[in-house]
Amino acid sequence: MITDIDNTLVGDNDSMRQLFEILEEHKDDIAWGVATGRSLELTLEAMTEYDFSMPDILVCSVGTEVYYGPDLRMDKGWQKHISYQWKPERIKETLSLLDFLVFQEIEGQRSFKISYYLEEKDNRLAMVHEKISEQRLRCQVIYSHGQFLDIIPLRASKGKAVDYLRYKYEFSPRNVMVAGDSGNDEDMISGKARGLVVANHSEELLTLKDKANTYFSSSNYAAGIIDGLYHYGLLQK
Ligand code: GLC
Ligand code: MG
Repeated sequence: MITDIDNTLVGDNDSMRQLFEILEEHKDDIAWGVATGRSLELTLEAMTEYDFSMPDILVCSVGTEVYYGPDLRMDKGWQKHISYQWKPERIKETLSLLDFLVFQEIEGQRSFKISYYLEEKDNRLAMVHEKISEQRLRCQVIYSHGQFLDIIPLRASKGKAVDYLRYKYEFSPRNVMVAGDSGNDEDMISGKARGLVVANHSEELLTLKDKANTYFSSSNYAAGIIDGLYHYGLLQK
């Protein structure tokens, strides 16, 4: 089971504690991981703040970094794979022409992720896409929570990182559930694995409403994750 952190795993403390009890009880048959927009440092901060234990897998910075618990070994092969056609300096230069884009703090800027704040209005998002294609820059533009704009390499994303891990560990997609609430979870949820959207999701995920293999839970936050595990038969009543 792979879950987003903010507004999916965390948000409601009681159901989160309940989920951790379930995962502890099933630790021999369910591996779990996080897939987050947070950097590794901010992920570790969340673990302290919300008091949860080390996941088996940490997909950080919108799928641009993969780490393995408990020693937080970084997957260097993944870094190498996603570096293909990544030109961060040219991307920053091109986007500096759009004065409505505001750089995120230093923690948000990673080797394979450039992040801004963006308030979407007057077709601003479309202008970002336009600038990038004008310059023929090969990268992905991901908008989340109605305020975060991430630019990442073509080969990266939460979904692509999850695919990579699935192949690596030879998991069939039907045995993998991915959970999320916002734009940067979209490609992971619409991928081959079983998708779970929590009830408190943001508007960006409405496009997945009628997709096969995507379950919209009527429960919020971690209660939605638990609901999904039963729904897909990964847990039995
Ligand atoms: C997290 C990251 C931020 C990113 C956002 C959306 O909040 O810290 O850099 O833009 O997720 O992916
Ligand atoms: Mg989220």
